[in-house]
Parts: sequence; structure tokens; C-alpha cells
Amino acid sequence: MENHNLASMITQRKSIRSYTATPLLPEIIEDILSFAKNATPLFPEFKTVFRIFNRKEIACVCPLSAPHYLAIYSERNPDADLNCGFILQQVDLFLSSKGIGACWLGMARPHDSMVENLPFVILLSFGTPDETVYRTSTEQFKRKTLGEMSSPGVLPEYIQGIRLAQSAMNKQPWFFSGDARSCRAFSVRGKGLINIGEGWRFVDIGIALANLQVMALSDGRTVSFRREDSIPAGTCSEYVISCRVSE
Ligand SMILES: Cc1cc2nc3c(=O)[nH]c(=O)nc-3n(C[C@H](O)[C@H](O)[C@H](O)COP(=O)(O)O)c2cc1C
Repeated sequence: MENHNLASMITQRKSIRSYTATPLLPEIIEDILSFAKNATPLFPEFKTVFRIFNRKEIACVCPLSAPHYLAIYSERNPDADLNCGFILQQVDLFLSSKGIGACWLGMARPHDSMVENLPFVILLSFGTPDETVYRTSTEQFKRKTLGEMSSPGVLPEYIQGIRLAQSAMNKQPWFFSGDARSCRAFSVRGKGLINIGEGWRFVDIGIALANLQVMALSDGRTVSFRREDSIPAGTCSEYVISCRVSE
């Protein structure tokens, strides 16, 4: 899959929650699984395993309408969550590019809670959409403003695409600071006692970082990710990772 195809999905994709009952063809499902297995990891040291389930194999407190569910299994720690978000976001953009509807599901889980000794992390539901798959304007994205999620001047070519990233409960629990070619990503916590969706905050940041990587690759650039020592945490924020985009 060409990266510019994926990059163009960042400004068009949306969560699809209404599907036709018709399942996708087995060869299409095979392609999706193969894409997931070959997606670029953020941290290659984490083993990841994928399974595709049908609706009967998923437990959820809410009604489910998608015919298919891609589950990722890995370790459960912040870096493994970042990695899972980073990988599955590439799959989400791939599905959008094929006109297939998708929605992340933090509220659902497969009956198979462990696969190959790895715990389940997160699900992406998908299928033939029964609603329009694409947004026609970035105005249709309900997101924080640039000023609320970034410092002035950080990655001017890419910060809008990072801003549009989806997140659990649409919390957008991130802040990016830096300059034209490099940035630091921070995880932002809510101030209340009950912060539903925060358990997914590292998956969410992995999604935002995948948007950055997909956009940069589509411009013929690369992104290197690294950890810096002694980056101070801000009020309600925690340093996660540093990124540098090549010239
Ligand atoms: C980690 C994660 C978990 C999510 N869990 C659910 C869910 O359980 N149910 C649901 O309807 N949407 C879920 N979503 C979708 C978000 O609500 C959605 O991405 C967000 O509101 C932004 O909307 P958009 O994707 O249409 O741009 C989840 C998204 C993420 C990233």
C-alpha cells in the first residue's frame, strides 16, 4: 500500500458504527490480516499476534453491528500499548483507503482473552459500511484546537494530521511541543477522579504517532523515535517519546 494513499485517509476517515450484514470476502479478510502483520511497528521488540473474529466471538455491553473484529494481542504496558496503537492505526487507514468501514472498540473484547500467551489489547471492528465512509472536510472532525494540543511552530507540515487522530472517547490525551523538524509527545491526563477512556491513552498516542509517520513517509521522509533522559513532566502531562522528521 502506497503511503500517500494512507496519508490522504487521515483527513477523510471517520469511525463507522453502521454496517451491512454481508460479510467481506475471505480473500479481502486475508489481505487485511496480511497488511496488519506487515505494518511497521513503533517498537519491534514487542511480539504482536492478530486474530480476526466474528460477532459471536466478541463480548460487549453495547450492541455490535460489524461483521468482523481484528484483535491485537501483545504485552500490556505503556510502550506495548503505544506499539499496538501505532500498528492498528495503519490498518485503520488501510481499511478506509479500501472503502471498508472501521471503528476501534475499547468497550468490547474477544472471548479469547489470551493468544500465544499474550493478553488481548484492543479491537478494530470492520465491515461493509452502511453509511458514508469519508468526511468531506476537516471541519467535520470534532477535535481540540491546535493551541490546545501543541506549542506554536511544532511540525507545521504534520501537526494538523496529528490533531485529527482518533482516540478513545475522543479525549485526544496528548500534547506536542518542539520545532519544525522535531517534537516531544506528552500524555495528558484528565483532572477529574473518573476519566473514562484514559486507560487507552498510550494506544491513543500510538495512533497520533502513526499519523505522523504515515504523512512523513508519503512526503519521502522518515521519522526516528527516541527517548530523551530527564524531560520534565508538565502539569497533568507526562513525557512519552521524541520524534525527528528527516529533511
Ligand atoms: C482506543 C479507542 C477505543 C475506542 N472505543 C470505542 C468504543 O468502545 N465504542 C465506540 O463506539 N467508539 C470507540 N472509539 C472511537 C472513538 O470514539 C472515535 O475515534 C472518536 O470519537 C473520534 O471520532 P472519529 O473516529 O469518527 O474521528 C474508540 C477509539 C479509540 C482510539
